[in-house]
Amino acid sequence: ALLRSQLSGDQVIVVSNREPYIHQRVDGRIEVQRPASGLVTAIEPVMRACSGTWVAHGSGSADRETVDRDDHVRLPPDDPAYHLRRIWLNPAEEQGYYYGFANEGLWPLCHVAHVRPVFREADWQHYREVNRRFADAVVQEARSDDPIVLVQDYHFALVPAMLRERLPRATILTFWHIPWPNPESFGICPWRREILQGMLGSTILGFHTRFHCKNFIETVDRYLEARIEHEHSTIAYGGAETLIESYPISIAWPEGESGSHWPPVDECRRRVFQHLGLPEGHKLAVGVDRFDYTKGILERMHAVERLLEKHPQWLGRFTFVQVAAPTRGQLDEYREFQERIHRVAQRINERFGATGRPVVRLLASHHGPEQVNELYRAANICMVTSLHDGMNLVCKEFVAARDDEQGVLVLSRFAGAAREMPEALIVNPYHVEETADALQRALEMPAAEQRERMASLRTTVREFNVYRWAGRMLTDAARWRLRRRIEERV
Ligand code: F6P
Repeated sequence: ALLRSQLSGDQVIVVSNREPYIHQRVDGRIEVQRPASGLVTAIEPVMRACSGTWVAHGSGSADRETVDRDDHVRLPPDDPAYHLRRIWLNPAEEQGYYYGFANEGLWPLCHVAHVRPVFREADWQHYREVNRRFADAVVQEARSDDPIVLVQDYHFALVPAMLRERLPRATILTFWHIPWPNPESFGICPWRREILQGMLGSTILGFHTRFHCKNFIETVDRYLEARIEHEHSTIAYGGAETLIESYPISIAWPEGESGSHWPPVDECRRRVFQHLGLPEGHKLAVGVDRFDYTKGILERMHAVERLLEKHPQWLGRFTFVQVAAPTRGQLDEYREFQERIHRVAQRINERFGATGRPVVRLLASHHGPEQVNELYRAANICMVTSLHDGMNLVCKEFVAARDDEQGVLVLSRFAGAAREMPEALIVNPYHVEETADALQRALEMPAAEQRERMASLRTTVREFNVYRWAGRMLTDAARWRLRRRIEERV
């Protein structure tokens, strides 16, 4: 309701690569899948609340069967509240724009996880062309000359300036969901100026943390002739001004929603333990990620191995379950990484095989929100050990799932979330010894200490939820729109 009142009837258009519901044809039936995506987790509840239009890439095998003549579909499927306008990319566009420039170029460039970015001229051309197509779609969807457009992520760095050119009065809020590196690291991108110029078409440009804002401002300072006002955190470039601000993203707190009627923790634990064949009293740690090299899955496994070396009393009494959602499998870097993780899991299980029970369970398939939630509620420990992460929402989902105030979060200091969640056991995932020690500490943590830490984490996530994230951005936008109206009057 608050979001709606902030919008006061203004039209909201979201632009993202990933769509919120993917329709697949399975055995002749159409199945709806929620993608494993932090962006979707965050934006979808906001769209439900403000009933706007969402422009995204249609990627499911049955997506085309669900649209009307204008390529629109009403969502969510069971309780329609907003429109999705799908953009259909051909294989060459998807390869060049999504797999190529976005995920072999910008993704490793911004994460600095020691995977070398690849920049190809042809990918860049596709990236520009697809950005143009999404900008065209926004212009078509706009019902007035001043909509509020929420541009999401590194897939669309050029869209803000393209929109600014054609809808000069639009309020363009761009949110960059991944980290922003320092100027030296970013500077290796052959199209660094074009990317920065594109982003500076935004009215407001948001990152998860002040640190990423600072890196962005320094990058602009290094590569463009722009006027930077450090006091107000604004950049003036090409006759327009952009506010650079941090908005830590979050999740919708489950209370009061249908999803919060979860089975009791004991029941979740019983079901999960039965499924995995674990005896009562066994300790369970979980990791839930896209199967991505930035998530620190390898380092996590090494920490589990080290824990068992140092503390063999856990042998046969401890299991680590890793849910790894398939992602970007067309790229060699991802395939090789995923194969390596399978090999390491196998090696660890063989090494400690005498206990008769595998230490590591690698579940490399898509898991729906209910299954993931059941795991969160069954676990003693949740491991989030990203090598670098804009925010990371798994840690917030874990905390939201633990209404029993038990369970320990082991969290990477290189995830944006570490700044808001100091009650977790904070680790450097590159330091295997430190992570193994944190695991040991978590395994031995008394229930009272778990409760104290978890209760505090829950207060933070409940309060700084995704509506607060969107609300703060929209409040800043409303202030900006008001200022402009006043200026136009004089
Ligand atoms: O969390 C960063 C992010 O890029 C999201 O913005 C994105 O939706 C998610 O990773 C999943 O990636 P993909 O959409 O490529 O599957």
